[in-house]
Amino acid sequence: MNAREIVPGIYRIGAQDFDRRLFDELIPLPDGTSYNAYLVKGSEKTVLIDTVDPTKSDVLLSQMNGVERLDYLIVQHVEQDHSGSVPAVLDRYPNATLITTPKAKPMLVDHLHINPERIVTVENGETLSLGDRTLEFIHAPWVHWPETMLTYLREEKILFTCDFLGSHLATTELYGREKERVYEAAKRYYAEIMMPFRAMIKGHLEKLARYEIEIIAPSHGPLYDDPAFILDAYRHWVLDPPENLVVLPYVSMHGSTQVMVDHLVSALADRGVRTEPFNMTVTDIGKLAITLVDAATVVFGAPTMLVGPHPSVVYAAYLTNALRPKLRHAAVIGSYGWAGKTMEQVMGLMSSLKVEWFNPLMVKGLPDETALEALDRLAEAIAKRHQSLS
Ligand SMILES: Cc1cc2nc3c(=O)[nH]c(=O)nc-3n(C[C@H](O)[C@H](O)[C@H](O)COP(=O)(O)O)c2cc1C
Ligand SMILES: [Fe+2]
Ligand SMILES: [Fe+2]
Repeated sequence: MNAREIVPGIYRIGAQDFDRRLFDELIPLPDGTSYNAYLVKGSEKTVLIDTVDPTKSDVLLSQMNGVERLDYLIVQHVEQDHSGSVPAVLDRYPNATLITTPKAKPMLVDHLHINPERIVTVENGETLSLGDRTLEFIHAPWVHWPETMLTYLREEKILFTCDFLGSHLATTELYGREKERVYEAAKRYYAEIMMPFRAMIKGHLEKLARYEIEIIAPSHGPLYDDPAFILDAYRHWVLDPPENLVVLPYVSMHGSTQVMVDHLVSALADRGVRTEPFNMTVTDIGKLAITLVDAATVVFGAPTMLVGPHPSVVYAAYLTNALRPKLRHAAVIGSYGWAGKTMEQVMGLMSSLKVEWFNPLMVKGLPDETALEALDRLAEAIAKRHQSLS
């Protein structure tokens, strides 16, 4: 796509990746994604903020065909979906200086073999004058790696955020006008990339409250000319208590755990608790992650296989633990044939989360009436806890 002018002299360039279907070889991308770069022309200096995934270098370079002189290349994040085309840009513009954080400098050398002599580091709060325009660098570690920073253009009040506040959405629109679609794509993005760093994000949101922001320009997905839309969404995801929602990742080889899951889902619904079951054989991991953003309770439905939980549930528990959602409660249910350590192993996989565990329910073979009654009691206990989520 062609460069899009945001305000005179400031352009969103970069690539829309409509065909990409998987990010980090983990999260499905139903709507693709984008790698946004930004060209900022001042009266004296010209700057490029971030580049694009290496698969799209040619798109970026052709958009820059008319740019004769590039003074600075700002790298806000070392991950290759933004920095992968840094070598190509530095080759094209041998006089351009790369600007980044002190933490990012050695990482750029390690990951991309950039010549360190071309890199100048900036401290938090440092500014760069482009003549009539001023960029302020805001160190913001852990959105998404330890080296990340944001860049604030003072005169136009544009905040460039790289991964922070972005969305996995390829679109021909500069601003995302289909709000529900943008919200879902941004939440999918938040769930995988940002949720594990909630404590850091809380601090960044507080810091940003001091800035007047008219446009947020992330490096994935459309821009926001209504910054409150995405900032309020982040505040909700990060700060608000979890919702009356159970997330239930499970699998069932021969139907016994399935009977338990079906019964529990129904018993919870009867008690006013919303549940999202995820059969791990067909589930979109992104949807599971999105649901974890809001859920108060996770229940794992795990048949025993080779003494432990079925590997698909191990995957779900491992991922849940790594994403560090706001969960308050957890439980394990499932079926076994003779003996195993399913429940202990699932609980062990969740060691990073401070959750209250309900009594586990492992049933031998097909659940009978007694087992179904125990599931009713579990539903009752969950519903009771969910009444006081604040
Ligand atoms: C490949 C395989 C391995 C199993 N390994 C064990 C095991 O180590 N310990 C055990 O108690 N049951 C084991 N079982 C039995 C299942 O846990 C049991 O059939 C259970 O009821 C399956 O629940 P499901 O119908 O929800 O899949 C195994 C079953 C299969 C198919
Ligand atoms: Fe990243
Ligand atoms: Fe990214």
